[in-house]
Amino acid sequence: MNIVTLVGSARKDSYNRSIANYIQKRYEELLTVELVDIKDLPHFDQDQEEDPPAKVKEFKKKIKDSDGVLIVTPEYNHSVPGMLKNAIDWTSRVDHVMTGKPVLIIGSSPGMLGTVRCQLHLRQILAAPGVSAKVLPGNEVFIGMVHEKLDDQGSITDEPTIKFLDMVLHNFIKFQKEIINKTEDK
Ligand code: FNR
Repeated sequence: MNIVTLVGSARKDSYNRSIANYIQKRYEELLTVELVDIKDLPHFDQDQEEDPPAKVKEFKKKIKDSDGVLIVTPEYNHSVPGMLKNAIDWTSRVDHVMTGKPVLIIGSSPGMLGTVRCQLHLRQILAAPGVSAKVLPGNEVFIGMVHEKLDDQGSITDEPTIKFLDMVLHNFIKFQKEIINKTEDK
């Protein structure tokens, strides 16, 4: 199972990227997790959507060829970081590469709410007609006070968070298989 991971932060020492890296290592027996850089994608331009720049074509192909998408993101000003919204906007046009894709959302923040408001907006965006992704229902991952839950190497040290992630990742794998089986039955 090949999972493309989008991190909503460009920051070198991003907590969210540390969590994505942690997931990549912890579940390597079950999943191939590829972190795809969205930082250098150009701004979405409708005039270019039929024949976008090479970086965008490459990015869209990775999403199209994947078995699912993991989004690990901070919250910026009570919403989705522009960089992540921009990447999703590119996917939403012409060949609609997110349509039907299983998606798992994880968010972390040094604040108490752990990206609650960002994720409300993100779920709305992922349900837009051009996107129509299949977000794992019933599993919301808000990692608040994240700076207290990672060590200096960026590994998660907080046991309840690790246990919760184990459960959610297993739920996501099951959900992904159900979606693939349904698609194959058609
Ligand atoms: C933030 N931060 C933030 N945190 C939060 O919980 N809710 C918010 O609305 C915001 N807004 C916000 C806007 C901007 C422009 C910045 C730079 C930061 C704080 C944010 O959670 C913190 O910087 C995280 O460390 C960012 O995630 P990464 O880069 O560590 O993954």
